[in-house]
Amino acid sequence: MKYKFEIDNSALNGFEIPAEPGFGTVKAPLMLSADLTKSQPTPEVVHINKTENLSLDPFCSTLHYGQSIFEGMKAYRTTKGEAVVFRAREGMARFARSAELMKMLDLDVDFLFDCLMTYLREVKDCIPTTPGHALYLRPLLFANDPMIKVKSGDMYKFLIMSSPVGDYFATAKSKTKVLVSDQYVRALPGGTGEAKTAANYAQSLPALNYAQSLGYQQVIYVDAMTRLFIEELGGMNFFWVEDGVLCTPPLTGTILHGITRKTILEIANDIGIETSERKIAVKELRDKVQSGKISEVFASGTAAVMNPLDEIGIQVDGEEITTLSFDEFPMMDRLKTILLATQRGESEFSDRYLTKI
Ligand SMILES: Cc1ncc(COP(=O)(O)O)c(C=O)c1O
Repeated sequence: MKYKFEIDNSALNGFEIPAEPGFGTVKAPLMLSADLTKSQPTPEVVHINKTENLSLDPFCSTLHYGQSIFEGMKAYRTTKGEAVVFRAREGMARFARSAELMKMLDLDVDFLFDCLMTYLREVKDCIPTTPGHALYLRPLLFANDPMIKVKSGDMYKFLIMSSPVGDYFATAKSKTKVLVSDQYVRALPGGTGEAKTAANYAQSLPALNYAQSLGYQQVIYVDAMTRLFIEELGGMNFFWVEDGVLCTPPLTGTILHGITRKTILEIANDIGIETSERKIAVKELRDKVQSGKISEVFASGTAAVMNPLDEIGIQVDGEEITTLSFDEFPMMDRLKTILLATQRGESEFSDRYLTKI
């Protein structure tokens, strides 16, 4: 079925991107919205108009049971001033996959991608020109049935909103300290860990609060079944460098299929860095860092792109916290330089990953 866009972009008038937008609070003045249903997952009309409050029925099922998914992508200005978006089709494909995992809708990726690109053409002046800044894109889908009964929804609200964001590194606290604790888990085999769904983030909060109470900024989660193996952070994938090989845990169903993770592995392979997707136990990490076999650890994600992990606190089996410290991140620095240049349209990989708006 062919749909049409109804667009009113008058809210753009007078909008100015703040010089220091920070992260996630500045609202671009336009949003996309559509009402989808299980029987009609591609609607007749998609609206793009002023970013404004939603009116929700208090019986809206998502408010109670959380059947909701989202995405996070970034649009950039290249050094030449072109507006581009990074791996947008893959982001929308992951959105469709999350919808499928959460038993929401059978979404058409072409439709989603068309919505994103049409929206981006309207908001492209909201993409900051300051190097390191970007327009963060947030597609969202939630069940909107007026029904307080646990059941997969029939009615859904689809939104795309966006936010000009600053350089995550410029605002990041001096050193990144993360905690590995086997007291908490984030995702179970057979559960929803692989989907980008609200529940996973709600579930990560007790561990995050605990880590923050001990002075850490983030948590590295272990697998739920054995509590021995490292999975990922609350919003980033985990990497380590062992004897010059770039390693990351495999995607076994409880880890988000990070698009930055995938890009890093692809670029590393292309520039001759050996890569390995394999499991690592927390104790193995500790022993190999202490013996010098593992030389650096870092995390990847759309928001911060790549972030060194300066300090890992390990708390397992009720033992005292062991602290692992890292000073240098040569492999991460090399890959980060290439990835940032790619996003600015300056690298040999730019054409592969960027779509012009
Ligand atoms: C749980 C989780 N893991 C990993 C990532 C990194 O994924 P990506 O690189 O696609 O942003 C994210 C962020 O989206 C996340 O929320």
